[in-house]
Amino acid sequence: MKDRFLQRFIFILSCLLLLVPGPLMARQLPLPEPLQLLPAQDPAKVELGKALFFDRRLSGDGTISCAVCHVPDEAYADGRKISAAYPTNKHWRHTIGLLNVGYLDTFFWDGRSKGLEQQAQGPIHSSFEMNLNPRYLVAKLREIPEYQQLFEQAWGGGVTLERIVGSLSAFERTLLITDAPFDRYLKGQKDALSADAQQGMAIFYGKRGNCAQCHSGSLLTDEKFYNLGVAELPELSSDPQHRSTRNFFLGEMGVESMDRDPGHYAVTHKKGDIGAFRTPPLRQVEQTGPYMHNGSFASLAEVIEFFNQGGGYDPDKTERLKPLGLSAGEKLALEAFLNSLTGTYQPVHAPPPPGY
Ligand code: HEC
Ligand code: HEC
Repeated sequence: MKDRFLQRFIFILSCLLLLVPGPLMARQLPLPEPLQLLPAQDPAKVELGKALFFDRRLSGDGTISCAVCHVPDEAYADGRKISAAYPTNKHWRHTIGLLNVGYLDTFFWDGRSKGLEQQAQGPIHSSFEMNLNPRYLVAKLREIPEYQQLFEQAWGGGVTLERIVGSLSAFERTLLITDAPFDRYLKGQKDALSADAQQGMAIFYGKRGNCAQCHSGSLLTDEKFYNLGVAELPELSSDPQHRSTRNFFLGEMGVESMDRDPGHYAVTHKKGDIGAFRTPPLRQVEQTGPYMHNGSFASLAEVIEFFNQGGGYDPDKTERLKPLGLSAGEKLALEAFLNSLTGTYQPVHAPPPPGY
């Protein structure tokens, strides 16, 4: 009796599914809103933040500024597979470009920081980035009259750590791109995208590529975390200097030593988050290679081929990736679409360090 009921139920369900019209099945994920400009920042704070961003005195030995790793001419990334590091050390992750960083809520490949202000202290303090005790930085800047004046103008008071990171963040919020062909297209200028880029867009937002299930919204990220099975870089495990920065980081995050990048697991300590990384924003992606948290792909063509194969190998890989079977033409079209996310941004030049 129960079985008959179940059979009928399944029969009716199958009929209903067959009736679902074709176009609905092939539905596209929604296109995002064009990128809106962020509210203007206080110019005095931005000027101060800019001076700090380029000032090498923010590091222990006076050689490393934020701009050493976040190079303005390279979309505020650095073009290296693995980031530069404090002298005699080796980093273990790829530098993230800073354009549009002011729109984000979750920072770093593993999502360990929730605000720009909170984030900025990290590299100053980090033993393998700028290696300077932030309290000592405050003491140093207090003795430089030009800095004192800049802090007075921006904050109506003297040098504090809170104001240092507040100024750096104000500067970072001005690093915006505008005028990407994709934005012009979204605003209604249909010829802003080449035919190739439009085909790529249809793949990206449609069932064919399904990229927008994760790369959604105006920045093309859902700011969530996925394990794609990106292979580990052998040198990060075989080279003692890379190993030591990684192991030190793991210890600081309260994670047991492991021979791989823990990803979001370092933050949540949940097994399912091992090897999961934040979906990166794709704005300006043309200029921010090499790609992925460990810079393991040199070009966008390599990244597209990776997704075409359904990602890499990892027992914990997300279920969302499937082999796509894209033709050579479709892969080129996807690349043309990714390149249409490139906009222009204001050139910024290093100001002379205050008081030098
Ligand atoms: C030695 C190189 C280095 C220096 C110096 C450095 N960074 Fe970074 N930065 C990185 C790397 C590598 C990452 C990615 C790290 C990760 O995800 O674990 C990063 C990530 C960031 C992010 C996160 C971006 C995002 O989308 O999540 C911000 C913001 C940032 N850095 C700002 C700064 C500021 C401000 C300074 C100066 C106070 C600075 N960085 C100095 C290498 C550096
Ligand atoms: C399951 C969610 C998901 C899907 C689907 C997805 N991506 Fe990604 N994408 C990510 C994550 C997460 C990373 C970073 C992975 C890492 O570093 O290990 C990434 C990285 C990238 C990068 C490198 C960006 C950088 O700055 O390093 C590009 C380009 C990219 N994806 C494009 C695509 C395209 C094109 C598609 C569709 C064919 C796609 N993605 C589908 C989540 C996704």
